[in-house]
Amino acid sequence: MSENRGPVVALVPAAGRGVRLGESVPKAFVELGGRSMLRRAVDGLLESGAVDTVVVIVPEDLIDTARARLPDGVVVVAGGEERADSVRAGLSVVDGAEFVLVHDAARALTPPSLIARVVAELQAGRTAVIPVLPVSDTIKTVDVLGAVTGTPLRSELRAVQTPQGFTTELLRRAYRDVNGDATDDAGLVERLGERVRTIVGEPEAFKITTPWDLTLARVLLGRSGSEQGS
Ligand code: C5P
Repeated sequence: MSENRGPVVALVPAAGRGVRLGESVPKAFVELGGRSMLRRAVDGLLESGAVDTVVVIVPEDLIDTARARLPDGVVVVAGGEERADSVRAGLSVVDGAEFVLVHDAARALTPPSLIARVVAELQAGRTAVIPVLPVSDTIKTVDVLGAVTGTPLRSELRAVQTPQGFTTELLRRAYRDVNGDATDDAGLVERLGERVRTIVGEPEAFKITTPWDLTLARVLLGRSGSEQGS
């Protein structure tokens, strides 16, 4: 298969309120070593050298704040009620891209090399690519009362990260034809019956969701000395 090096757009949905983090500002605007999570996520995408355009999706009332705090050239649009609405808003301004990445702002410490690896797989001919890691905990399914209903085989489970990469045609089709929300974009593509390929993710691409995650992120940054580089 020949290499396809068409334009790559990255969507960064950051329009959630992020209440689980317990901070006073929306999650993407929480500071991590002098730079917001959103800024770190955007900088990582640009540093990968694999992304041509970044589109950030934020709450409507924070559009001006986001524009002022992001590098020139980054496109900022208003998000929607659910994550899927925000991704749709981002997709609506994508024009002429061959590939689209969707990357959570909450994965602020994602190594640029992981972003480049996702894009390389797309350029090699894959149509849907997601980074994953094996899970170390045993995972149970439970009912509404908390009683265990099953124990999926751990060796078959993977924890899913971002960026998730797609051909623009496939992601547009998923958002047009699949009803309902999904916690990740690949979930919609799977429901179309399309094959999603996995690549090995990175521990640093973990999602900063809880106060514990935020503490971990700050400790990691302190250790690497990145605070000075902010
Ligand atoms: O809620 P969750 O942590 O799964 O959200 C994942 C990402 O989607 C976050 O970066 C969040 O800001 C974003 N999101 C969004 N619009 C919403 C809800 C969530 O862009 N309405």
